[in-house]
Amino acid sequence: MEASKTVVILVKPGVDWASAHRLLSEKYAYRVLLVSSAKDALATMANIHVDLVVAEDVESDKDGLNFLAGLRVSNPDVMRVYVADTPECLSGTELVQAAIYQFLLKPVNEAQLGLVVERALETRELARRHRLLSREFKISGDTLDFNDRKSKIFRPESQRFEKLVYISEQMAEVCDLARQAAPTELPILIQGETGTGKELLVRAIHYNSLRRTSPLMMQNCGGMSDELLQSELFGHKRGAFTGAISDRLGLFRAADGGTVFLDEISEVSPSFQVSLLRFLQEGEVKPLGSDKVLHCNVRIVAASNRPIKDLVARGLFRQDLYYRLKGFEFMVPPLRDRPVDIEPLTEFFAAKHADAMGKKILGVSAKVIEKLANGDFPGNVRELENEVRRMVALAKDGEYLTTRNMSAALLAATQRAAPEQERGYLPEGVTLKDQVESLERQIVAQALMRNRWNQSRTASDLGLSRVGLANKIKRYALAGGDGNAID
Ligand SMILES: Nc1ncnc2c1ncn2[C@@H]1O[C@H](COP(=O)(O)OP(=O)(O)O)[C@@H](O)[C@H]1O
Ligand SMILES: [Mg+2]
Repeated sequence: MEASKTVVILVKPGVDWASAHRLLSEKYAYRVLLVSSAKDALATMANIHVDLVVAEDVESDKDGLNFLAGLRVSNPDVMRVYVADTPECLSGTELVQAAIYQFLLKPVNEAQLGLVVERALETRELARRHRLLSREFKISGDTLDFNDRKSKIFRPESQRFEKLVYISEQMAEVCDLARQAAPTELPILIQGETGTGKELLVRAIHYNSLRRTSPLMMQNCGGMSDELLQSELFGHKRGAFTGAISDRLGLFRAADGGTVFLDEISEVSPSFQVSLLRFLQEGEVKPLGSDKVLHCNVRIVAASNRPIKDLVARGLFRQDLYYRLKGFEFMVPPLRDRPVDIEPLTEFFAAKHADAMGKKILGVSAKVIEKLANGDFPGNVRELENEVRRMVALAKDGEYLTTRNMSAALLAATQRAAPEQERGYLPEGVTLKDQVESLERQIVAQALMRNRWNQSRTASDLGLSRVGLANKIKRYALAGGDGNAID
């Protein structure tokens, strides 16, 4: 994403900035916008992504400086340069408050202005890159294929985008632990809502482990019959069951020496849990229809978007299997609990999909980031990525992503979801009965949102029967299940 930078200059009406304008736009190739009031400057910044603001006093002493001080709070990422009419304008506390990058005195030396602006933008870019680079978890490091020239040469460029991006402390903790867990041989259990990045984390762990040159195989355990799952994982002999027309190796043996990722592990039947436990304990594989016991060495990484601990407490998942699986246990937080990740993820996805579509996108407008940052994202990072991919597809080549490209659904959902977003439940009403009911309503509503209105899951999460849940939905007039799940 090679972005040309945008500079806004707030100037007194009538003052001639034409040659400074020309210098910045021609020599430095910045996009330069002149405005003559703080209001216009703010309106501009609401619509397009601005990198730096130069301001002088427009109507009264230090009003330019005070405007910059306000920007420090409202648009902290925008660099600020102040042009003072007289040295007196530089006295007082305002200069400190505005935390400007640099000031200049009139008359403005244009060459100096150009250098100051260039340096300010460089500083900002370095800070931004440092921030993003220091917070990412690469899936395929450069060292991986060091003795395999061929794969290095043919390594697709898209691997640049094979990484976990984050700046939140919560994700930093997850990734730090994952780095430590990766080279060990212990099984790993990853829990988190759908779309939070569990699969990406599995890939990061595998490719940062000693097994990285062996296969990583994935199996989704949701919605599979026992027999099918058995034969997928353990293999089968020809004729073991109707339709078994040839021998099948099975994933565990196909991945020998590597890692097997079992997604939606919460969905497997009690009898399959027993087979899996035996495999984890003995490393033994018995293909369906065969009486030979074979051995293989794979590391198991399992994931679930339902909390296994609760399932264990309710007798739906074997405790011994749970303990076996969680050599390391990860909880990947939902995106709404780490809204600071939305901005770097949005920039990352914009670059990734612009690249994939062969488009040039200059950047993402501050307004878009603000809107997205308020989003609820029940589908988590996957939903954010889908939204950004759509915006990139709609954007014109060489433009910024603006709210014009945003989906109406998300703009609307952002507003609708905002009040519900508060995690804490606050009772309404006066009597105990009213307060308890209002809490119940909030808890049911949030569980429904969390499960994207999948009523059987919600009922199971809340320990209700489906009919019981349906009654609550009716009683509290809950609505919103439009059935368009994200994956
Ligand atoms: N931290 C992240 N950085 C970059 N991409 C991410 C991140 N988290 C999730 N994604 C992307 O979001 C999508 C959903 O992630 P995935 O790992 O499939 O989630 P889950 O397995 O939890 O449902 C994928 O395209 C993935 O690449
Ligand atoms: Mg997944």
